[in-house]
Amino acid sequence: MKGKTPEESRTIITDLVLPSETNPIGNMFGGELLARMDRAASISARRHSRRIVVTASVNHVAFNKMIPLGSVVTVEAHVSRAFNSSMEVFLDVWIEDRESGLRSKANEAIYTFVAVDEMGSPVKVPELVPETELEKQRFDAALRRKQLSLVLAGKMKPSEATELKALFED
Ligand SMILES: CC(C)(COP(=O)(O)OP(=O)(O)OC[C@H]1O[C@@H](n2cnc3c(N)ncnc32)[C@H](O)[C@@H]1OP(=O)(O)O)[C@@H](O)C(=O)NCCC(=O)NCCS
Repeated sequence: MKGKTPEESRTIITDLVLPSETNPIGNMFGGELLARMDRAASISARRHSRRIVVTASVNHVAFNKMIPLGSVVTVEAHVSRAFNSSMEVFLDVWIEDRESGLRSKANEAIYTFVAVDEMGSPVKVPELVPETELEKQRFDAALRRKQLSLVLAGKMKPSEATELKALFED
């Protein structure tokens, strides 16, 4: 199976924040942003694998900045590493200044998707070939994040998480 670059799965969704999507102090609901990120990440994982994909876990979400009503929000997703049937998808969220048009980073998140067949059984996906320095950094750290996610989900023994253990050994 031929490897694919992150560029081939890059997915960009831009949309406004409407009143029904805000909390009582006029900022975007976290759940609304999670849903937008899940949609972008799922398209990205589908572009990489060309299979049916399901969300296996949300590994990390940082709500660093409030996103006010009326903001133009851009969610950008790409596959950052592919394993056997699972793919890590990295999400960067940007908002743009109304007058200058300049973009600033609002949030980021990391999701894991699994490619499955019609019966819901995991299937193999192409490997990911990182190109830029940032893509290589994200690729290198992805195995550690996968092991952490599996340990937290009770699917891997901490003693088997070699990449995590290496963090604490010097
Ligand atoms: C995700 C799912 C397919 C995994 O099935 P499973 O029986 O655990 O299958 P496996 O143990 O073979 O795992 C498949 C892959 O998922 C990965 N995985 C499973 N749980 C994971 C987790 N919590 N974090 C990271 N990766 C995970 C495994 O490491 C494996 O990756 P690999 O093949 O690349 O090595 C299954 O749990 C499922 O269908 N879940 C529901 C998904 C869904 O409906 N999502 C929407 C929620 S509303």
